[in-house]
Amino acid sequence: MDKNVKDSLLQRRSIRRYERESISENDMALIHEAIRNTPTSYNGQQFSVIDIDDRETKEKLYELTGQKQIKTCSRFLLFCMDYNKITRLAEAKGIVMPTFTGTMDGIIVGIVDASLAMMSAVTAAESRGLGTCCIGYARTAAPEAIAELLGLPLKTFAVCGLAIGIPRELPDLKPKQPKSLVIHRNRYRNDDLTGELLDYDAAIHRYNATRSGATSDNDWCAHIIDYYRQAMDYTMLDTLIRHGFNITR
Ligand SMILES: Cc1cc2nc3c(=O)[nH]c(=O)nc-3n(C[C@H](O)[C@H](O)[C@H](O)COP(=O)(O)O)c2cc1C
Repeated sequence: MDKNVKDSLLQRRSIRRYERESISENDMALIHEAIRNTPTSYNGQQFSVIDIDDRETKEKLYELTGQKQIKTCSRFLLFCMDYNKITRLAEAKGIVMPTFTGTMDGIIVGIVDASLAMMSAVTAAESRGLGTCCIGYARTAAPEAIAELLGLPLKTFAVCGLAIGIPRELPDLKPKQPKSLVIHRNRYRNDDLTGELLDYDAAIHRYNATRSGATSDNDWCAHIIDYYRQAMDYTMLDTLIRHGFNITR
């Protein structure tokens, strides 16, 4: 049954456990159409999606990323920044491509397009009562092996994965930052944010300690900064350069 837009947006939470059943082709068709109709920079559609339902491929991706959702979901979608298509067309038409893919704005444009496409898929899936979980490890864990496994050509780059399946759990909604910290009216706030940030940190600590399922003693700040520390070892610039994004100053 379809969920309304409000529930699709406000009742969404990441779902990491799925039923074995496959997603219907009707639901996948809606997800695909929502992806296709994503707003993109200049209508350049600087993205492509690899839609994976092959069990062996999903198992290999699980081995490479350690993310079990990839193995157990019905469909795993990999959202890629893609300048291969426009490069091919420009070549066919004899047009010289500027080195846009070597600029930071080129990278931002592609990553924004791929990310918005993923969000279109999330909302479409939610509206059909499906569960989703974005998988950033699809970018960071083994970029070379994943590009090779999926035959990603030069000038493409895996931005993020999305596991989709029929939900087998309903985790508590995660508290998010209060509106006062997220939405700034007319200009960025210039008063002291610390008190509200500490309150939010404590709210996440309480949520982690009391949520249904596995609990933890994590607060928000230490958890996020641990992640940043771990991410200091990622070498995305090298990966981008190897994939044909010749970034220069
Ligand atoms: C870009 C991105 C990458 C993510 N990567 C992962 C991931 O690799 N593994 C995972 O279990 N969850 C991942 N998540 C899910 C987040 O942990 C989740 O969205 C966040 O904790 C907020 O919880 P909620 O989605 O239930 O509101 C990712 C989410 C985003 C947006």
